[in-house]
Parts: sequence; structure tokens; C-alpha cells
Amino acid sequence: MQLPFFTVTFFLAPLASSLLSAQRGTHGGIGGSDGHKLTIPKLKSVGEHFGKIISLEKEEDSQKEEKMKITEGVPATKPPQGPCPALSPYLRGASKLTFSPSLTLEEVEKENPQVAEGRYHPAECSALQRVAILIPHRNRERHLLYLLEHLHPFLQRQQLEYGIYVIHQAGSTKFNRAKLLNVGYLEALKEENWDCFIFHDVDLVPENDFNIYMCDRQPKHLVVGRNSTGYRLRYQGYFGGVTALTRDQFSMVNGFSNNYWGWGGEDDDLRIRVEMQKMRVMRPSADVARYTMIFHNRDHGNEENRERMKLLRQVSRTWKTDGLNSCSYRLLSVEHNPLYINITVDFSMQPKIS
Ligand SMILES: *[C@@H]1O[C@H](CO)[C@@H](O)[C@H](O)[C@H]1NC(C)=O
Ligand SMILES: *[C@@H]1O[C@H](CO)[C@@H](O)[C@H](O)[C@H]1NC(C)=O
Repeated sequence: MQLPFFTVTFFLAPLASSLLSAQRGTHGGIGGSDGHKLTIPKLKSVGEHFGKIISLEKEEDSQKEEKMKITEGVPATKPPQGPCPALSPYLRGASKLTFSPSLTLEEVEKENPQVAEGRYHPAECSALQRVAILIPHRNRERHLLYLLEHLHPFLQRQQLEYGIYVIHQAGSTKFNRAKLLNVGYLEALKEENWDCFIFHDVDLVPENDFNIYMCDRQPKHLVVGRNSTGYRLRYQGYFGGVTALTRDQFSMVNGFSNNYWGWGGEDDDLRIRVEMQKMRVMRPSADVARYTMIFHNRDHGNEENRERMKLLRQVSRTWKTDGLNSCSYRLLSVEHNPLYINITVDFSMQPKIS
């Protein structure tokens, strides 16, 4: 119960100026291009709280009695929707995950009647952030099914407005996780002005719903531990698996590099980009940031990338011209399935690294 209060106090100082501008009618600041943008989703919600407090106090004035008389007998109209609380009341904490071999997509659809075309928003309040989950994919239908089974209820318990995008690499070129994520970001923004992006591996399932899938003032790394590493960080500086960056944090670093074909390196490259912009990677506490990694062998077409050390030494020279602004691809289809949006792309026009 203390957390919402703490958050409110914490944000009050920077709030003052944004509240002022909001009251002057320049509320379109969300998604604006000034330096305060990172905190705006939260500021907005706190601002709404704040506005409420102010109006409640006004009501305590002498007009209160009159007002009560006036509203008597008036049929209740639906009140304007307030922001969701800073901490959702539906969170459950740690859960033991199970993966049933007989699970079907239809069953998961039935379990999630409020999800339509891969998207959901809470009915009871307005979400603090609009979050796009981006999942790079090829030949992992089973893993995807398990992830969807767990992720949909998980995100709903967090009271988020969200959309799940699966970015499917067609053809037989080597797998390029980072470029798929760049495509996901660019394509998802054509549908909705998402505040926050979660870059999510298909084989990692979160175990604890206090691991909040929202963005913060700094880029977040959500995987401290996984069952396959004894729940320890893989190495100091590891920034892979599941990360959360705001729309603006990601655009500030020009997204991922497009040049990592095969397994490894692209996540370290992103960390270097983040650090070069003087941002700092944050992590939730280790008891919360836990994942189950669904077992698999390394896929054919995703062999270890032997160029990665060389690429990593060049980031400071290449990041400005290699990233979102140079991400070329052939969009094959965008399919709106009940539980996810399937963006299929082809990279076969790209030069191959052998
Ligand atoms: C992690 O848990 C998953 C699901 O229960 C299992 O398939 C996998 O083998 C586990 N990995 C390790 C190393 O225990
Ligand atoms: C995505 O769409 C493509 C093209 O229709 C299809 O081949 C692929 O199987 C789909 N992937 C998933 C995970 O739905």
C-alpha cells in the first residue's frame, strides 16, 4: 500500500512544470520531443491523480451541499475513467509454471476472451503505459504458444494496455534477432503510438508478475536469472533475453544494429549504444526478475556469429548509420490473429555473412 504513495511524492517535483503546461492546454506533450519525455507516461497518470485531489478539495467548499442536492435523482452517467493504480491489485507474485504438451492455440484463445487482434486494455481504468511486446520468431511455434499462454494473463494482471507482435523471419537467410526487433518497432508504431517496447525472446517465460512490463527513466533489463543458469545473471553487463526501452530511448540509440546474423552479440551492441547515450541499465530485484527458459537445441540457421567481437569493437563508429535509420526489409504480410499480430518479413535481399 505504500508504493503508490511513494511514487506520487517521488514524481511531484518534476510534475510541477508539466502540470502547469497541461493546465495551459498544451497537454499534447506526450510523445513530444523535449528532454522530459522518458517519464511522461507516469507523469500523466500522476497528473490525473493530482487533478482529482484538487477537484475533491474544491468540492469540500460551501458549494458541496448545493451540489449534492443538484445531483440527487440524476441518473448516473459513466464517470470519466481514472488512471490505473501505480501497483496493480491483481498481482500474485511467484508462480510455478507448467507447460502442457497437449495445449492448443484455441485453448489459449478461450482463456483470453478480452484480447482482440493481439491487443488488450483494462476495462476498469486507463493504463499507465501503452506497451508493445516484440517477439522475434522462426520455427518456434510451440515455444510461442507457451509464451502466449503465460504472457497474456500476466500482462492483464499488471493492468497494462498492450499489443503482442511476433516478427517472423521468412526465408532461409541466417536468423537476425536484432533486425527483426527493429522491424517490429517500426511496424508497431504504424498502428499505435506505443510508449514502451519490450524486446522479448520466445523461449523465456516470466515467473513473477511483480516483474513489471513497463518502461522507466532508464532502459530496463528484465532477466536477472533463469532456471538454466541457476537464476544468476549470465555475465556482468548482460543485456539480453528481455529488455524494456521507451519509444524515445530506443530511437535515441538508433535501435539495434542490423548487422548481427546468427546467434550472439546484438544485445551487447545495444548495451554499448545505451551507455554511449549516458543512459544506465536498470534491473528489477533478483527475486522478481526470474524466468523459465523452455528447453531447445540451437536452431538451424541461427549458428553462432563469429563476427560479433569485431562488430562490437566498431559500435562507436557505426551506430549512427546502422540501426533504425538503415533498416531495410521486405514486408511480406501483417496478420491480425486473435492473440498476436504476425509481421512476416524477408531479409534475403541482404548481403549474407558466411
Ligand atoms: C527450465 O524449466 C523448463 C520448463 O520446466 C525445462 O524445460 C528446462 O529443462 C529447465 N532447464 C533447466 C536447466 O533446468
Ligand atoms: C506468420 O505468417 C506467415 C505468413 O502467413 C506464416 O508463414 C507463419 O507461419 C506465421 N507465423 C506465426 C507464428 O503465426
